[in-house]
Amino acid sequence: MNADVTPMVLADRVCKNFGALDVLNGVSLEVQRGEVACLIGPSGSGKSTFLRCVNHLEKVNAGRLLVDGDLIGYREKAGKLYELSSRDAGRQRRDIGMVFQHFNLFPHRTVVNNIIEAPMLVGGKSKAAATEHAMALLDQVGLRNKADAYPAQLSGGQQQRVAIARALAMEPKLMLFDEPTSALDPELVGDVLEVMRGLAADGMTMLVVTHEMGFAREVADQLIFMDAGAVVEKGRPRDVLANPQHERTQSFLSKLL
Ligand SMILES: Nc1ncnc2c1ncn2[C@@H]1O[C@H](COP(=O)(O)OP(=O)(O)OP(=O)(O)O)[C@@H](O)[C@H]1O
Ligand SMILES: [Mg+2]
Repeated sequence: MNADVTPMVLADRVCKNFGALDVLNGVSLEVQRGEVACLIGPSGSGKSTFLRCVNHLEKVNAGRLLVDGDLIGYREKAGKLYELSSRDAGRQRRDIGMVFQHFNLFPHRTVVNNIIEAPMLVGGKSKAAATEHAMALLDQVGLRNKADAYPAQLSGGQQQRVAIARALAMEPKLMLFDEPTSALDPELVGDVLEVMRGLAADGMTMLVVTHEMGFAREVADQLIFMDAGAVVEKGRPRDVLANPQHERTQSFLSKLL
């Protein structure tokens, strides 16, 4: 496949159920490399589940999900799908960074030790190299002076910026964000969005679940509205926000704005 035109994320009628509960009912979307896509939709519509499928924390039941041309979680042979070993699945996941609503830092480790853990254990980096990279990432998120602090000594916004630095430490080709600012006090949201804006400007491919419509309008190339486990509408943020085509999008946005 031609690397320049292969989408970074390609979801083709992705389905996921938990027992009798159908959560994703054929999600199709594409995120091109270097693109920022924002995913919005009502609570329970399947946004987090979809992100977790991309990162194969969850397994897709039907349809195909490709990241950078690689089928996620499976290998295709003579038209049949075979599940990847946990080792091969882990290798795919390494290229994908994920940032959660609730930071999930290790509480008993300092900021810098949170960041160097995966590059050392999984990436095989030396402590010196991992630490040097971690300090550069802390610069990037504006927290170099907090390297030796513990998570509990930081504000929520600072913890989230550390979580972003930690995800970047593995040099991912795709970053997933699941409502990264929704657990923060309003005055802390701006700093986190500023870091994300910087990442986007540097060309990182990002799929972001967020209800920060200002961010979506300014930064996103694509706004995707999901409802009941399917994509209802997608397009340029300005177009979708100013002129939603579907009644469900209109009704959702009118409650949000
Ligand atoms: N591990 C699980 N087992 C069973 N049901 C689950 C599981 N994870 C999610 N669900 C269900 O799947 C549906 C979609 O959940 P999901 O978390 O993806 O929604 P969401 O769009 O992210 O919602 P929110 O905006 O509230 O975060 C919900 O009905 C949820 O209860
Ligand atoms: Mg969610």
